[in-house]
Amino acid sequence: MTIQKEEELAKLKKIGAIVALTIAEMQKKAEPGMTTLELDEIGAAILAREGARSAPRLVYDFPGATCISVNEEAAHGIPGARVLQAGDIVNVDVSAEKDGFFADAGRSFVLHPVEEKYEKLCVYTENALNQAIAASRAKKPFHVIGRAVERVAKEGGFRVIRNLGGHGVGRALHESPKFIPAYFEPSDRRRFWKGLVLTIEPFFSFHVDEVTEGDDGWTLKGPAGSRFAQYEHTIVITDKKPIILTSAPVLSS
Ligand code: CO
Ligand code: CO
Repeated sequence: MTIQKEEELAKLKKIGAIVALTIAEMQKKAEPGMTTLELDEIGAAILAREGARSAPRLVYDFPGATCISVNEEAAHGIPGARVLQAGDIVNVDVSAEKDGFFADAGRSFVLHPVEEKYEKLCVYTENALNQAIAASRAKKPFHVIGRAVERVAKEGGFRVIRNLGGHGVGRALHESPKFIPAYFEPSDRRRFWKGLVLTIEPFFSFHVDEVTEGDDGWTLKGPAGSRFAQYEHTIVITDKKPIILTSAPVLSS
C-alpha cells in the first residue's frame, strides 16, 4: 500500500510494534527441550492479548499462528512436535493484522551453545537487511536492495536465496509490488515511491541458492545439513531513511 494519511501510518506503527514485541518475546522464551508448538503458543497468546490476528492463519489458513523454521528449514515452518535442540538456528517469522493493517517481520537466532559459524551467518544476514534498508528511498530503483544484500553476502562468503523475496504489505499480507529480489537484478526497473510500505527479507545460507517445498506443503527447506538465516522488517519509504515499523522493542528482563 501507499500511505496517504497520518492515521494509516499510526495504525501500521501499532501492528508493527505488536509483531516486533511478539518476535522478541518468542526469542527470549525459546530454549532447548521446548517444541515449536509451545513456542508458537507463546506468540499466539501475545497476538491475542494485543488484539491482533495471525496473518498466515487469517489469509492462508496456515496451521499455526507464527512460522517457526529450524536448521534446514528456511521459511514457513509449521509449529509442531519438533523439539528445539541446543545449537539450533531458529527462525521466527511473525505477521499479523489489526484494524485492517498488516505488518510482517522475522529474525533468526542460535540456541546456546552458539557455534561461531552460525552466529556469523545470523550477523551477516541482519547486516544485509540493515544495509538494504539504508539504501532504500523514494525514486531509487528496487535493485539497490539486491545490490546491498549481495555485497554483504560476498563479504561473508554466504549465498543469497533467490526464490524468496520482499513484497508490498499493509492492507494485505502480500500485495503489490510482488517479489522484490534480495539478489541484484539490474533489469528490474521498478523504483520506490514515497509512502510505499514493503518488506525486505534476505535469506542467507552456506551453499544453497534455492529452497524447495517440503512434503507438508508449507515448509520451504534445503537439503539435510543446510542452514539458513532470515531477517525481515516492514518499512515505509520516504525521501530520507525509511521508517522501520517492526523495530525490536526493549524488553524488561
Ligand atoms: Co514477508
Ligand atoms: Co515474514
